[in-house]
Amino acid sequence: MRDRGQDATLRLGIAGLGMAAARILPEIAPLPFLRLTGAADLRKHALDRFAQEFGARVYGTVEDLCESDDVDAVYVATPHEFHARHSIAAMERGKHVIVEKPMALSLDEAEAMNAAADRHGVKLMSGHTHSFDPPVRKMAEVVAGGGLGDLLMISTAYYKDHMYRPFSDHDIRMSRGVVLNQGPHQFDIVRLIGGGLVRSVRAMAGIGDPTRPGEGHYACHLEFEDGVPASLVYSGYAYFDTGELVWGIGEGGLPKDPDRHPKAREFFRSLGAGPERSEGLEGRLEGRRYGSGAVSGSAHETAPPHQPFFGLTIVTCEKGEIRQSRDGLYVYDDRGRREMPVERGARGREAELSEFRDAIVHDRRPFHDGRWGEATLEVCLGVLQSAQERREVYMSHQVPVTH
Ligand SMILES: NC(=O)c1ccc[n+]([C@@H]2O[C@H](COP(=O)([O-])OP(=O)(O)OC[C@H]3O[C@@H](n4cnc5c(N)ncnc54)[C@H](O)[C@@H]3O)[C@@H](O)[C@H]2O)c1
Repeated sequence: MRDRGQDATLRLGIAGLGMAAARILPEIAPLPFLRLTGAADLRKHALDRFAQEFGARVYGTVEDLCESDDVDAVYVATPHEFHARHSIAAMERGKHVIVEKPMALSLDEAEAMNAAADRHGVKLMSGHTHSFDPPVRKMAEVVAGGGLGDLLMISTAYYKDHMYRPFSDHDIRMSRGVVLNQGPHQFDIVRLIGGGLVRSVRAMAGIGDPTRPGEGHYACHLEFEDGVPASLVYSGYAYFDTGELVWGIGEGGLPKDPDRHPKAREFFRSLGAGPERSEGLEGRLEGRRYGSGAVSGSAHETAPPHQPFFGLTIVTCEKGEIRQSRDGLYVYDDRGRREMPVERGARGREAELSEFRDAIVHDRRPFHDGRWGEATLEVCLGVLQSAQERREVYMSHQVPVTH
């Protein structure tokens, strides 16, 4: 950091300028406390665009980006299988790291990442999950406040089109379908509300479409150390859309196209089953990556009109229940239903970057640090193990929510 005081500017490098970067950049580029000073990728046209758009240096390898004296921290948004390698490369060179979900593909990788952060005295943050969404944080705050009595149970369900988004089969295989890609969002939300310490997981997950090499659904019963249960359901098959139950609002707070799911399925049908299928997927993906055509890092013209929704979550406490309203929370208690407003405040990635920067400036642990991320990954891997062995799996890497 240029100056360690309150006004310190975080000089950030981006590792991986793909689809994730095309979403991240417009949200973080305008933040007053950071400057984009570098990027690494294999796609030259993306690097050229980044250099031109942000006046920053660009590199063909993540290791070279991490050697730069102009970079304090690296945002790792390369494909899942490189998260551990690229995060460790950055930390070994004294850089702080935010890593996209899934943090890693195994607990050994996550352990190695946390050990590197400790060894090199840098901050490692497990970034981007919907537990940063303001309504989710507010639900956790209401529960922790105790006004509704003890937490009794949590239920959450999300039905969307993940398996028919244009991810390559390789990507789907690496992330075990929805489990390691979408699970980190859902389990992070539930862990945040439930206090963090998961005792055990019993789940079934499966491959419902044999043409996609990864688990497209799971149903999970999870139990916290204090006995509170949670039920989590996720379906990525693009049939029913949970958006129908939440005023047609999607996970970014924008209205969802009601025909999005049939259109996604139709696109897959049109691809056929031969080699043209991967070419078709790659073409669609490339069109959404940073640097392709009109995809740039410029700020969106209009902020999303609503709060984000990651499916439907209902929290049951002794004296009432809570769920998201269109722009805040509904609390149901003895007096009936009342709406609790939720400040728009810092949304998703802005909240994430603020937490990260504060952790660096004040030399304190970010809440969503590598240990928190490892605990969430352990639950996701627990889903796979439980499904394979058809038994309850016990957790051993959990950390509590600290306020
Ligand atoms: N796509 C999304 O909307 C989204 C949203 C949130 C998080 N993520 C996460 O972000 C990560 C990246 O996903 P994506 O969808 O952007 O993938 P992507 O394939 O679109 O982008 C990956 C980028 O990394 C680059 N890359 C690959 N190997 C590299 C290497 N060895 N060195 C440097 N650059 C390399 C590629 O050229 C590409 O530009 C994933 O872990 C994913 O879970 C994606």
